[in-house]
Amino acid sequence: MTNADLRQNRLQTNEFSDAASRKASHSAAALAGVENGVFYHDPVMLAECLEGLNIKPNGTYGDCTLGGGGHSYAIANKLDENGTLHAFDRDEEAVAFATKRLAGVKPKFIVHPVRFGELKNEIAPNTLDGILYDLGISSHQVDASDRGFTFVGNNPLDLRMDRREGVSAQEWFKTVDADALAAALRKNADMDRAFKLATRLVEMAAAVAGENRDILPSDVKGVVESVFPDKRREVNGLLARVFQAIRMEVNGELKEIEDSLRAAVDCLKVGGRLVVMSYHSVEDRCVKETAAEFERACICPPHLPVCTCGGNHQRLKKVNRKPIVPTEEEIASNSRARSAKLRVYERV
Ligand SMILES: C[S@@+](CC[C@H](N)C(=O)[O-])C[C@H]1O[C@@H](n2cnc3c(N)ncnc32)[C@H](O)[C@@H]1O
Repeated sequence: MTNADLRQNRLQTNEFSDAASRKASHSAAALAGVENGVFYHDPVMLAECLEGLNIKPNGTYGDCTLGGGGHSYAIANKLDENGTLHAFDRDEEAVAFATKRLAGVKPKFIVHPVRFGELKNEIAPNTLDGILYDLGISSHQVDASDRGFTFVGNNPLDLRMDRREGVSAQEWFKTVDADALAAALRKNADMDRAFKLATRLVEMAAAVAGENRDILPSDVKGVVESVFPDKRREVNGLLARVFQAIRMEVNGELKEIEDSLRAAVDCLKVGGRLVVMSYHSVEDRCVKETAAEFERACICPPHLPVCTCGGNHQRLKKVNRKPIVPTEEEIASNSRARSAKLRVYERV
């Protein structure tokens, strides 16, 4: 892969961002995420995440998105031998890479190679002092062309985080109709012209199936260009959004976030921290709305004139009124940070 390809892939991990040129250089924290010369992932807002987690050296923490282990490694380094770190990832390559990277850390390090939607089956209630979510995909997942996440190059689409389960984007295209695809484009990427785009994508998928071959990024690009002839200069941004919508559907991402955040509230001790970083508006909205369910003291239906629920249901409070965003310096050294928003809550 050329440097230009790598830069284009950074655009895709940044999902909703425009095509402004960015530096491909990585921060000092990322250097530890390099193995045998292969770069894995540069952790975003590392200091802010650690501060949000409010780490006690002997505490018990969860990292739901292990990835290259950048955040986990830094959390582990703040814990002593009485501390525990639980880490989740559904991608076996991430688990293998990060497990090696964290070998020899002081705290007990327990890896859960499953979806974070399984949190409630893996972690006991009221046991965590903090839990972190760094949502989306890692730079490695996008950069590894055989994973089929990228529209750079022309490898067949796959887009599964866990290749051991679920259906690939290829299989998904064989069953989806234009209505369902349009709904996914709207829900997962706020796409305009969603029905027209979906109809043409379904026609393209049928034509490709007739040729007995896999769907390639160039097939999707052809459809996007035909639906947005007036937006030729934005084609990469549009493609990034189409890929995002398909990826989120194939991996059931919004449901995973909702299920896991609800379980996280149960897993946290009172005073424990919930720290969530999202990279685009759809993810951020899901985080904000799910957390809001637990910020309300009163859970009575809105039409009731007086509160009958007792008004004591609040289980989360915001630590920061507004989401935290990265500094200009971080954005300049790590383009992936550009769209990040960090929300921190405390269990009450
Ligand atoms: C942005 S990366 C995390 C990078 C990590 N914080 C680091 O510093 O290297 C997100 C990771 O979360 C994983 N992931 C995303 N959704 C998941 C889910 N529902 N269950 C488990 N892992 C998930 C992806 O496979 C990916 O490795």
